[in-house]
Amino acid sequence: MMWYRDTPFRLGGGTQAHLKVQGLSAGYGAFLVLRDLTLEARPGLTVVLGPNGAGKTTLLKALNGLIARQGTVLLNGEELPEKTHEIVQNGVALVAEGRQLFPQMTVTENLELGGWLVPKAERARRIEQAFEHFPKLRERATQLAGTMSGGEQQMVAVARAMMCAPRLLMLDEPSLGLAPKMVDELLGIARRIADEGTTVLMVEQNVKKALAVADRGYVLERGVIVASGPAKLLARSTVIREAYLGADKDPATGTTNAPDAVQRRKAVATA
Ligand SMILES: Nc1ncnc2c1ncn2[C@@H]1O[C@H](COP(=O)(O)OP(=O)(O)O)[C@@H](O)[C@H]1O
Ligand SMILES: [Mg+2]
Repeated sequence: MMWYRDTPFRLGGGTQAHLKVQGLSAGYGAFLVLRDLTLEARPGLTVVLGPNGAGKTTLLKALNGLIARQGTVLLNGEELPEKTHEIVQNGVALVAEGRQLFPQMTVTENLELGGWLVPKAERARRIEQAFEHFPKLRERATQLAGTMSGGEQQMVAVARAMMCAPRLLMLDEPSLGLAPKMVDELLGIARRIADEGTTVLMVEQNVKKALAVADRGYVLERGVIVASGPAKLLARSTVIREAYLGADKDPATGTTNAPDAVQRRKAVATA
């Protein structure tokens, strides 16, 4: 099943969203968090991993126009506008950290607000589609969002973002604070959305599970990309194993992992 798209989000010639970020710098006032960052989100699912404070949220805020940025951001070869509402109109949606639902509104009302840009009949159609994708939400259609579990709220937040039929969906730590089963479900949803044609750029701290669903990954530390590559290779790389998975030996051979195809741009500060 595809998420329904029509103008202004229809993509010509069946091309999918491809985000290219070159030399991105962003921060808060004089405090620069991201320095000269280069990354890509190709069709599929790209994950940006990194510890607390690495600059993951700052990256998504900069891409969504919530803070100023320097550098080049291209979406299918075209410069992404700087203002948030124009970025949304370009088919980019962000599910922010903490979900930011309207707690006193029902699930359906939250979804309606996500589709405020689209005409009413179309909005109703997309809500119906959201319920097809998330049967659990149909059961809870009239429940106040604030009374739902963390995982259910995250689901509403993702469904709400999909109401504007984005071509690029950005997710800020969708698994944060969720029970393991819910983490799997949410990451599975991200995977499904990518498989159905929306490019997904997700930031996560849940390294193992995120790499298991992603196509490609980046590791961000202190505002700088320190490693990148196909998710499968990244999961086996020394940079990930040593710094995040708590293993410096290959369980199969008992030897330290040899360098692999993953680009290691910089030694990881492990101090
Ligand atoms: N609104 C803000 N004003 C000033 N500094 C901020 C603000 N938000 C985040 N920071 C700082 O920016 C850095 C990166 O934060 P953030 O992007 O939230 O990291 P992450 O999402 O990877 O945990 C941290 O040092 C954090 O303290
Ligand atoms: Mg964050």
